[in-house]
Amino acid sequence: MNTAIILAAGNSNRFGGNIPKQFIRIKNRLLIDFSISTFEKIKNIDKIIIVVSKQYYGMMIKEYPKHTIVLGGKTRKQSSHNGLLSCDKNTKKVLLHDSARPLVTKDLINNCIDVLDDYNAVTLAISVNDTIAKVKNSSIIKIDDRETLRAMQTPQGFNFTKIRNAHIEDKKNYTDDIQLMLNSNYDCKFIEGDEINFKVTTKNDFILLTEYLKNDK
Ligand code: CTP
Ligand code: MG
Repeated sequence: MNTAIILAAGNSNRFGGNIPKQFIRIKNRLLIDFSISTFEKIKNIDKIIIVVSKQYYGMMIKEYPKHTIVLGGKTRKQSSHNGLLSCDKNTKKVLLHDSARPLVTKDLINNCIDVLDDYNAVTLAISVNDTIAKVKNSSIIKIDDRETLRAMQTPQGFNFTKIRNAHIEDKKNYTDDIQLMLNSNYDCKFIEGDEINFKVTTKNDFILLTEYLKNDK
């Protein structure tokens, strides 16, 4: 079986406000509902696990009785770890998705699932528009050729047993799961993501999202 884990236990420090961004209402729906309903339409996904904080646990159980609701942790790494520990033992492929990426498409999800026939780890990625520099204090340390850089998106897909074991063994913190698999020396593949699959991180991203949804039924 294949499982999707939707991560929604963050508290949106960069976004600000009283309600975590994934639980803001837009077009009369929770922001998280956009990605959940897209995953619900994927034939090859048998189970959806939603990782949330204590505060939203009761609400989410009521809202999504068909899905498994799990408590997250302080960091994204801990939240995805908890999601992985709640997967059925028969899980073969697992996809981890940021609930803060509401406009993920069926095609992007299916492309990740397909790559997992041949590889253990895959992420969506897009080219970067800005020059990216490694910095320390107020100095530039290194600038790589932009053509060799990609920005990571989600979903990120994995062989279930391999990522679960990598999570159990590696205690370091990472901002996403592909980084953890890379540090466990797996061959990590990337496929083309999409600008529309941006992560709502700041208020400006929310304005962009509102704009995208304007002409949607
Ligand atoms: N996430 C999570 N558990 C955490 C931290 C993050 O499940 N402890 C989830 C978020 O809910 C989000 C995704 O991971 O859908 C990507 O994280 P990010 O955009 O960084 O969200 P936040 O951590 O909530 O935001 P910030 O870093 O600004 O506080
Ligand atoms: Mg965060």
